[in-house]
Amino acid sequence: MIKRGPFRLDSTTITHRAVIAWKRRGSAEVKGQKHILYTPEHWYPDHLRDITLCSYDRVYAIFGDSDAHASNTGLSAVNQSAKMMPMIPIFETTLGRAYQGDCLEFLQSVESEVVDLAFADPPFNLGKKYSSGFHDKHEEEDYISWCKAWIDEMIRTLKPGGSLFLWNLPKWNLPLGAYVGEKLTFRHWISVDIKYSLPIRGRLYPSHYSLLYFVKGTKPTTFHPDRIPTPCCRHCGGELRDYGGYKDKMNPNGVNLSDVWTDIPPVRHAKYKKRDANALSLKLMDRIICMASDAGDLILDPFGGSGTTFVAAELNGRRWIGSELDCSTIVERFSDLKGDKEHLIDIHSSKNTLFTKTDLERRRKNGKPLPKAYRLKEDIASCDCSPKNEEQMKISF
Ligand SMILES: C[S@@+](CC[C@H](N)C(=O)[O-])C[C@H]1O[C@@H](n2cnc3c(N)ncnc32)[C@H](O)[C@@H]1O
Repeated sequence: MIKRGPFRLDSTTITHRAVIAWKRRGSAEVKGQKHILYTPEHWYPDHLRDITLCSYDRVYAIFGDSDAHASNTGLSAVNQSAKMMPMIPIFETTLGRAYQGDCLEFLQSVESEVVDLAFADPPFNLGKKYSSGFHDKHEEEDYISWCKAWIDEMIRTLKPGGSLFLWNLPKWNLPLGAYVGEKLTFRHWISVDIKYSLPIRGRLYPSHYSLLYFVKGTKPTTFHPDRIPTPCCRHCGGELRDYGGYKDKMNPNGVNLSDVWTDIPPVRHAKYKKRDANALSLKLMDRIICMASDAGDLILDPFGGSGTTFVAAELNGRRWIGSELDCSTIVERFSDLKGDKEHLIDIHSSKNTLFTKTDLERRRKNGKPLPKAYRLKEDIASCDCSPKNEEQMKISF
């Protein structure tokens, strides 16, 4: 269930719109009173009359008795007289909460060592346009130091044995990976084969994103990578690799996952097209979440975007928290998860098996029965027991 504003803060009800106005302008008129958002950039000691403060990690509310506070110009003095309130999620489900606001502000509100899996897909400093109005072109040095600031916070929130994943262009993950490597244990640089620009003259064609995988401490608490189907011809369903006399050695549950992922499709679903072009594939987030977390674990993503991490976490029965400057797409997406559920059922039915149902069907149509040497019975692989309806979905995810 999704809850939206207005939210109740101390003795005043504050609308969601007012919270957004604070974020944008630093102040807003609410019920005729002057309310102020507190961040280190917005500090107006002369406005201490009837103010509502939102600090880095808490929302504070002060009402009335203005003179008593007017002389206080430091945060500590204000805190003593302020009523401390928790940060307000813009919406929540039974498993998760999304906060609309700056990632650093959000991260600093999260307790230390509570997160099992942290994932970040930040803006890549390419000058892209975001619906949130985020400015995506900074000096390289500034971009890296900003990244280091939220990475430090993510590391702090991770439990020992928890996993950190950073999604970025190789150019940025190179320095950022070196930085994280001083604090966490490096596990993998995963190359995800997705073409993201046109060929550039004088350069190799950029065709992979970097997914860095670290663990806090020496080994991960949870690590159970999916197995993937063997690649088959899209027309006849025949194997693209020849296993020769080793067919009987092939694990019927699929091939070992490597650190090069070539099977992550771009986001194509008609329903998602109106979303920001930066949305990640549900298959990618499902794979990461299923590999490094268990049901009930807590997943964190400070750059929610269209909410792919949150949806994958929710539908896989993980708890989740995260932030985003503009959560409108996330809220809209969560208002109808039918398409995402169907998509996830499809994703789940095509993993942890050596041949997908689709490939077995193609083979059958093209008169290519599965060689008996594979220890996989076609009738089992193509049986109809995968969850189809929502009720079954609840049980299986
Ligand atoms: C690359 S997109 C993330 C896409 C997301 N992984 C998905 O699958 O939809 C990066 C997002 O970070 C958000 N963002 C940028 N700066 C932010 C900040 N300081 N705090 C929170 N979110 C921020 C942008 O609005 C954008 O939606």
